[in-house]
Amino acid sequence: MLPEHVAIIMDGNGRWAQRRELPRTSGHEQGAEAVRRTVRHARRLGIRYLTLFAFSTLNWARPQEEVHELMLLLESFLRDEREELLENGIRLMAIGERELLPPQVRRVLEETEAVTAHCEDMVLVLAVSYDGRRDLVRAVRQITALASRGELLPADVSEELIARSLSTAHIPDVDLLVRTSGEIRLSGFLPFEACYAELYFTDTHWPDFGEAQLDEALATYARRQRRFGLIDAQIAGMV
Ligand code: FPP
Repeated sequence: MLPEHVAIIMDGNGRWAQRRELPRTSGHEQGAEAVRRTVRHARRLGIRYLTLFAFSTLNWARPQEEVHELMLLLESFLRDEREELLENGIRLMAIGERELLPPQVRRVLEETEAVTAHCEDMVLVLAVSYDGRRDLVRAVRQITALASRGELLPADVSEELIARSLSTAHIPDVDLLVRTSGEIRLSGFLPFEACYAELYFTDTHWPDFGEAQLDEALATYARRQRRFGLIDAQIAGMV
């Protein structure tokens, strides 16, 4: 009953810091620690795909210093964790508009993708400068470009073609989507890919997230019955 693909909206860094009368950057720093803990634990448990919403397209509108701090944290995470990713067979992949990232962040990201490309035990997907609608728009543009060259007919457009045109092309659908910090919304995260995902919301702020919280989310998932439109008797017949 372990989900193959877990996706997490890491929310609440700011509130975590505010509650302690600390600057928001402290919340993000502790958030980066929570990322380390969560990746390690997910790998130990045997989760095959873990996608983390690290930075949304809308986050570019935050104060410049905060954006700068988040970029620095992302860069140092990638630099510091590279060895551990390799030792643990974790492949790093990024989704989102990487061309909008500062050049040195993009460089480290792509170097990490390249050096871990052969790793097969787990895939860690970082959503950076990501927005699901924008990703869908990009996919539709790609598909219509093929159509305008006469390489595609309307009947060729299928769920599979759309899935293959998204930045998550080689990543399976999300089974379990987690959001921390008490907000009950999806904020443009993986709208096509998480269409049939089980949703799990927790009040825990992201910097407090760790092994116990991931275990709890997985235990809840294991108790859910995914029916995909079928009835109970059909599900019983499948097991
Ligand atoms: C949401 O908290 C979190 C973010 C916008 C960024 C997430 C970034 C990290 C966890 C750290 C760096 C990432 C990596 C991969 C090392 P918020 O600031 O929106 O919190 P709030 O809603 O309480 O203000």
